[in-house]
Amino acid sequence: MNERVVEAINRQVNSELSASYSYLGMFSWCERQKFTGAARWLRLQSQEEYMHGMKLLDFLLARDCDVDLRQIEAPHVSYNSLLDVFERALQQEQEVSRQIDELYETAFKEKAFAAVAELQWFLTEQVEEEKTGREIVTKLKMIGSDPSSLLEMDRELGARSGVEQPPSTAS
Ligand code: FEO
Repeated sequence: MNERVVEAINRQVNSELSASYSYLGMFSWCERQKFTGAARWLRLQSQEEYMHGMKLLDFLLARDCDVDLRQIEAPHVSYNSLLDVFERALQQEQEVSRQIDELYETAFKEKAFAAVAELQWFLTEQVEEEKTGREIVTKLKMIGSDPSSLLEMDRELGARSGVEQPPSTAS
């Protein structure tokens, strides 16, 4: 596969794993503040991001490409509020969407059609993840600092059933 595409996918593996680590930072803060529902939601999200990174890594390996595992930066572990956590989560998802768009464009320009097909799932997934993030942020803004509404929201987040398994990469 074309070198530019391989480099860009390696970069995205790092970005997905960084997102996973960043959600762990958010999970830890929420757990310590006893927002246990939000903590559960964020822990599951961290697992989803790990699987996204693995899906891309499996794709590189299935195509017999060079793997370049890079350093992952330490995430934030301190936040001002539950709203602050989810605003940052949404920003992170918006940034990942931008990266996926860029990666898709690179793969398309380089005629790396297998990569184009692989990345289609990520494009759709980002639409869903941004939508969910926006909904949570909007609700938290409405709630403000009302304790009973915050606890209800925490319960709602804790009802998240599990992680969405991405379809496996054909090898
Ligand atoms: Fe895998 Fe939410 O980006």
